[in-house]
Amino acid sequence: MNADTLPLLELVQIGKRFDDPTGRDAAPAVIDQLSLAVAAGEFVTIVGPSGSGKSTLLNMIAQVDRPTSGSVKLRGQTILEAGTEQLRPGWQCQIGYVTQEDNLLPWRRLEENILLPLKAQGRLDAAHRARAAELIEAAGLKGFERYYPHELSGGMRKRASLVRTLAYDPPMILMDEPFGALDAQTRVQLHGDLLRLWSLKRKTILFVTHDIAEAIALGDRVLVLSRAPARVIAEHPVQLPRPREVDRLVTLPGFAGLFDRIREQLR
Ligand SMILES: Nc1ncnc2c1ncn2[C@@H]1O[C@H](COP(=O)(O)OP(=O)(O)O)[C@@H](O)[C@H]1O
Ligand SMILES: [Mg+2]
Repeated sequence: MNADTLPLLELVQIGKRFDDPTGRDAAPAVIDQLSLAVAAGEFVTIVGPSGSGKSTLLNMIAQVDRPTSGSVKLRGQTILEAGTEQLRPGWQCQIGYVTQEDNLLPWRRLEENILLPLKAQGRLDAAHRARAAELIEAAGLKGFERYYPHELSGGMRKRASLVRTLAYDPPMILMDEPFGALDAQTRVQLHGDLLRLWSLKRKTILFVTHDIAEAIALGDRVLVLSRAPARVIAEHPVQLPRPREVDRLVTLPGFAGLFDRIREQLR
């Protein structure tokens, strides 16, 4: 297979077991033989119960933790496996990670926060600056470039952290319940913002959540995880048309049925 037909990201039989701190028992597995593949440009959502190992899974893909078994491949190349000695977080700027916290530096202005990772990598050229400005505008943050994080709303800070990751331009982006802490109305707004930002330049996204509606609203495909030890127990293509008006999706035929099927599987 050539690079174009390979999945961008592939997990092959990933297993994870944390060491038992008392050292007495073998700790139970958190993730069990989990395999999945994400094609370039695809938006895949993973829905699973709280505590099912979603954050643990993304931590391994982002290389802030290592699996007990199995491997992670990027464009067919194994970038992490059980025996990997040295973790490389974000693997050569190829993998971006948006976590539940916005992780903005309080003493840096919004624009500085967004440009900081590019600067740290020595990649802050005119093209990246222009792209950052375009994303800032698309995210409705134009005019706020010189504000400090504490002067912005929670939704604005979250948008800034999305823009920071998109401006950094990794081909693969991981998102861990990034809107979990926000109120329902702000969340729906941010779903729309995220889809709009994503469509500006088709990134490949793996987004985990415990919220079924969120998983359907955003994804091309929803993967359903079992309770720990996590495995993929079902997969649903989402046929809803794009661009999506997220606040109206629940009224579309197909939404309620898919929601119910996934809810049954999560029982
Ligand atoms: N560093 C760790 N050490 C030991 N156990 C952990 C660690 N991180 C997560 N766990 C355990 O792994 C399980 C899955 O956690 P997590 O991946 O955070 O779930 P989710 O993100 O789906 O809510 C939980 O039982 C949690 O207690
Ligand atoms: Mg989590």
